[in-house]
Amino acid sequence: MTILRRGKFITFEGIDGAGKSTHLAWLEHFLQDKGVEVVVTREPGGTALGEALRKLLLDHQQVMHAETEALLMFAARREHLDKVILPALERGAWVISDRFTDASFAYQGGGRGVPAARLEILEQWVQGNFSSDLTLYFDVPVTISRQRVQSARVADRFELEPDLFFERVRQAYLQRASQFPERIKVVDGSLPLAEVKMAMVEAVEEFWLSHAPSR
Ligand code: TYD
Repeated sequence: MTILRRGKFITFEGIDGAGKSTHLAWLEHFLQDKGVEVVVTREPGGTALGEALRKLLLDHQQVMHAETEALLMFAARREHLDKVILPALERGAWVISDRFTDASFAYQGGGRGVPAARLEILEQWVQGNFSSDLTLYFDVPVTISRQRVQSARVADRFELEPDLFFERVRQAYLQRASQFPERIKVVDGSLPLAEVKMAMVEAVEEFWLSHAPSR
C-alpha cells in the first residue's frame, strides 16, 4: 500500500478491562497541545459500515466461525483504512486507534486459534506493509481485567468468554510485543493509575522526540 504518510499512526491494545480507553484520552490531549491535528477512532468500527459490523461482532446472540470473525474484522479494517486512517495520515493528522491489527492476532489468533499464517494473508491483502508506528499495549493479569469488566457494564460477545480465552489472548499480545519490540511498547497496566500514566508518558515522549513534524 503506497501512501504518502505525513502523520503518525498510534494504536492502543490490551485485553478487555486493561484500561486502555482511560489512557487514550490523555494521548489525544498531549498531541493536541503539541499543535497537531488528532483523529481518534476505534476498531472494529470507525466508519458507518465498520460500526455496523462491530454491532454484529459484539452481539452475544451471534454465533460465527472463528474465520468468519477474522474476515469481518479485516473487512471493517479495509473500510477504516480507506475512509478514515489513510486520508487523515496523508493530510498530516496523527491518528489514534483504540485497537488495530494486533487485536486480530491476539483475539482471533491466540484466543480463537485461527493460524497466524492465515491472518498474515489477510493482513497483507488489506494493508500491505502498512502498520502502526507505535502501539501501546496495556498488560494486566486476567484476574484483574475480569474484575474491571464485570463491574463496568453488560458483557459483549468477547467479554463472555472464559478466563482461559483471555489468558491465550494475553499470551498472544505478549508474543507480538516480543516479535516487534520497536513498534509495540508494553505498559504494565496493573500498577496504580498514576504510574501507568507515567510509563505511557515516557513511551509517548520518546516517540514524539524522534517523530515530531519539522516546522
Ligand atoms: P473494545 O475495544 O474492548 O471496546 P469496549 O471498550 O467498548 O468494550 O471491544 C472490541 C472487542 O473486539 C474486544 O473484545 C476485542 C475485539 N476485537 C477482536 O477480537 N479482533 C480485532 O481485530 C479487533 C479490532 C477487536
